[in-house]
Amino acid sequence: MPDATAEHSDERIRAAERVVIGQPTSDGAGVKLTRLIGTAALPDLDPFLMLDEFRSDDPKAYIAGFPDHPHRGFETVTYVLAGRLRHRDNKGNSGLLEAGSVQWMTAGRGIVHSEMPEQEQGLMAGFQLWINLPARDKMTAPAYQDIAPDKLPVVAAEGGVTVKVIAGAFAEARGPVAPRATEPLFLDVAIPASGAFTAAVEEGLNAFAYLREGSAEIGPEGAARALRRGQLAVLGAGDHFAARAGAEGARLLLLAGRPLREPVAKYGPFVMNSQAELYEAVADFQAGRF
Ligand code: CO
Repeated sequence: MPDATAEHSDERIRAAERVVIGQPTSDGAGVKLTRLIGTAALPDLDPFLMLDEFRSDDPKAYIAGFPDHPHRGFETVTYVLAGRLRHRDNKGNSGLLEAGSVQWMTAGRGIVHSEMPEQEQGLMAGFQLWINLPARDKMTAPAYQDIAPDKLPVVAAEGGVTVKVIAGAFAEARGPVAPRATEPLFLDVAIPASGAFTAAVEEGLNAFAYLREGSAEIGPEGAARALRRGQLAVLGAGDHFAARAGAEGARLLLLAGRPLREPVAKYGPFVMNSQAELYEAVADFQAGRF
């Protein structure tokens, strides 16, 4: 009879090495956000450059939106949980992001776009993540993947856990995001009250978990750390992630990506490898070359 215990002990569960909370801020034309990555406490987590959470039922917190602004050199991932967000760019592309949808935008050599609420009241909630591009892809042609909610596989895992697979793989499911250099894993996980969840997270990827609802203990048994809503755990070395939900259950985002280990030069919405490339980005944008 196979020894399940021995098999299990080969897993190296990643510890919650650091736990941080977000920083309230505003961006765009005055949208209120909580910045989780891109703060003094957590400036970045290669290849992740920024993570913002937006959640408000007060239209004053979101109605001004993000009017026309440029991007170059990285990718933006928008995951809408509630509300409607209209996207338009200077190449004539437009799309409506509804609750449960994901937009994976490769800014590449440059786009100018707006991201505006298409509602005047009600809850607006979701995330925007910035993922770096390797030097060789920074000047690639801009591209989008607009992913409707029904295109995201949802896996019913053991113990009543459900796992929405946005990027990368979980069990037999693979997210719709095309493979790329940063090998992103992006799971949205719902764990019922007092339930447990484990997932493979390849060794060598940088990883973090964000508690978006409820509470959970993150990390190996005996050395797990308790997280509540609004806390982000930077995960240490290992090849698996483990969480046990508290009495109210947990919703968490589990993300991982291959670090690029390249120099990062950042100026607002431009993320390149050197100062010279940043000057070029600003000059190209001002000259209307995006
Ligand atoms: Co943008």
